[in-house]
Amino acid sequence: MSLKEQIDIKKLPRHVAIIMDGNGRWAKQQGEQRTFGHKNGVTAVREVTEAAAELGVEYLTLYAFSTENWNRPRNEIDALMDLLINTMNVELKTLNENDIRLSAIGDLKSLPTKCYDNLMQTIEATKDNKRMTLVLALSYSAKWEMTQAIQKIASKVKEGTLSKEDISEDVISDHLCTKDMPEPELLIRTSGENRISNFLLWQIAYSELYFTKTLWPEFDKEEFYTALIDYQKRERRFGNVPENLSSTDHA
Ligand code: FPP
Repeated sequence: MSLKEQIDIKKLPRHVAIIMDGNGRWAKQQGEQRTFGHKNGVTAVREVTEAAAELGVEYLTLYAFSTENWNRPRNEIDALMDLLINTMNVELKTLNENDIRLSAIGDLKSLPTKCYDNLMQTIEATKDNKRMTLVLALSYSAKWEMTQAIQKIASKVKEGTLSKEDISEDVISDHLCTKDMPEPELLIRTSGENRISNFLLWQIAYSELYFTKTLWPEFDKEEFYTALIDYQKRERRFGNVPENLSSTDHA
């Protein structure tokens, strides 16, 4: 049985989030510059997007550029922004043909104007697509996201449109960038680093974590299927005891 055939479609996560890591190390292994790794990382983005959409995953969130990535050398930042613009232009047709909607989370206004405009155009051009939502986390960090959520909530309390007692977990979720999305059931990180790096800290409270040594440019459909199979073997208890779980809780 192929890896794809081993996946139980009924137990598919609705939302998979990925920390794409290892482009730089992969490029070094090839005796190339870091930007060569990012360029080849786009191939993996295409592979995984296609695999996720084919299976029926509803949301795929990719950590493409963190708040901390602004500290990288200027030429690498410029190359990443150019790559993003170029990829959106090249892939727009494929996104529409495959009924995939593009979305983005993060401090998007901090992106270079050309990149921001291009992103907004691509989001607009794919907004009616229904099969899957591909979410790019750009200039994103969970601490930034939570800070801006707290600021918005505090403003509402100050102006009297929200009372302090009404601040609940749902209210906090509604002020995050992911407010209309389900929380990821599965978070994947490539490259052998076992950390979260400021990604979706609120939303992954009960996510299953999957770490692989594979460097991002080498992550392909088969690797994605392997992660899903591993996830489907796990029992998700949400702090409960096994006897109290209904069959759906095992998803
Ligand atoms: C991490 O590898 C990767 C990034 C910071 C950028 C990810 C970008 C892409 C895959 C290409 C563009 C994406 C899209 C969605 C079009 P790293 O540079 O931190 O690698 P290292 O840890 O080995 O140095």
